[in-house]
Amino acid sequence: MSLELSKKAAAVKPSSTLAITAKAKEMRAQGMDVVGFGAGEPDFRTPQNICDAAIKAINDGFTKYTPASGIIELKEAVCKKFKEFNNLDYATDQIVISNGGKHSLTNIFTALINPGDEVIIPAPYWLSYPEIVKLAGGVPVIVTTTKEGEYKLTAQELENAITEKTKALILNTPNNPTGMLYTRDELMAIAKVVVEKDIYVVADEMYENLIYGDLEHVSIASLGREIYDRTITCSGLAKSYAMTGWRIGYTGSSKEIASMMSSVQSHQTSNPNSIAQKAAVEALNGIQDHVEEMNAEFDVRREYMYGKICKMPYVDAIEPMGAFYIFVDATEVLSKSYKGEKVGSVERMAEILIEDYKTAVVPCADFGFPNHLRLSYAIAIEQIKKGLKRIDNFLKDLQ
Ligand SMILES: Cc1ncc(COP(=O)(O)O)c(C=O)c1O
Repeated sequence: MSLELSKKAAAVKPSSTLAITAKAKEMRAQGMDVVGFGAGEPDFRTPQNICDAAIKAINDGFTKYTPASGIIELKEAVCKKFKEFNNLDYATDQIVISNGGKHSLTNIFTALINPGDEVIIPAPYWLSYPEIVKLAGGVPVIVTTTKEGEYKLTAQELENAITEKTKALILNTPNNPTGMLYTRDELMAIAKVVVEKDIYVVADEMYENLIYGDLEHVSIASLGREIYDRTITCSGLAKSYAMTGWRIGYTGSSKEIASMMSSVQSHQTSNPNSIAQKAAVEALNGIQDHVEEMNAEFDVRREYMYGKICKMPYVDAIEPMGAFYIFVDATEVLSKSYKGEKVGSVERMAEILIEDYKTAVVPCADFGFPNHLRLSYAIAIEQIKKGLKRIDNFLKDLQ
């Protein structure tokens, strides 16, 4: 057929992280012992009290359409969490419950963007941002940060990138893929520019519960009325509660934006899954012990992994303080040779690692940072030990 398909859809790149995870799964299915550092999801089971709430919802017949933007009980739980954890006052009509964080971001950009509007995305970034912005008709403007600045956007870099077409900035803390956190002072400086230049901030705080050491999570919207009015705060249950498959995300925003997102959602997906919403109420209102237990385990893995990577030749990393990723600078590896051939790129390095060392890692070109790899520690410590040994062997095999 010669009919042209959508240019917008054709311009979207498939998710390379999902592709790597799929390749590792396929090799495992063929009986190979593959270690996968690609995981973007906790390896823990969803806590039992949350599963029980879902089973109860089914048995109670809570299996029908709900209001488009979510049930009031869940919105109230989200408001309580925003107040207690983020120091943010949102009323229930400012909350939109969605089918996951990705869906919240899609809603947000659908509500904000007119064709040609620019959205500033600091690199390295989570690979879905530019694609979601493009799908909404926006233009991603990538601002590359520096390793010396811990891969964080400075207020000055933001100011330099703003044009009259800028509509919003995406700010992700704790960050995927770097594991870095923005401090209160850094956020205050950014907020000042945002308010002065009158743009929006899309604050993606998906990993807000996953913080190690003494650092605090600061929500940019909590830093004053003017920045609050310009921020859409976005989070979800996937990472904090090991609920990736349940698909529940949420936003806090102005009533006007919430109402627009709700209308859009009502036509696109009707409502988030009714059973998952009941489970989410339990996740937010129920005992939080399992969150702490999971975090403690992530912390052990993080320390082990960071310690080992620091001792490896040709690679280095900054100690991550949040999320469950380590961002590895592999620039030196690229000039080395493997079996007589120059490695040349992190994509090639990832290929060698999976084929010859049965270890899956994520090359970060699609995260806007070509010479880097992302390693997830959302896998069992035994796997981490085995996988790091393999990476170390590869590095020692280089000439
Ligand atoms: C930074 C960031 N934001 C949002 C999401 C989306 O999460 P969800 O699974 O709820 O769609 C992810 C998932 O990997 C993420 O890493």
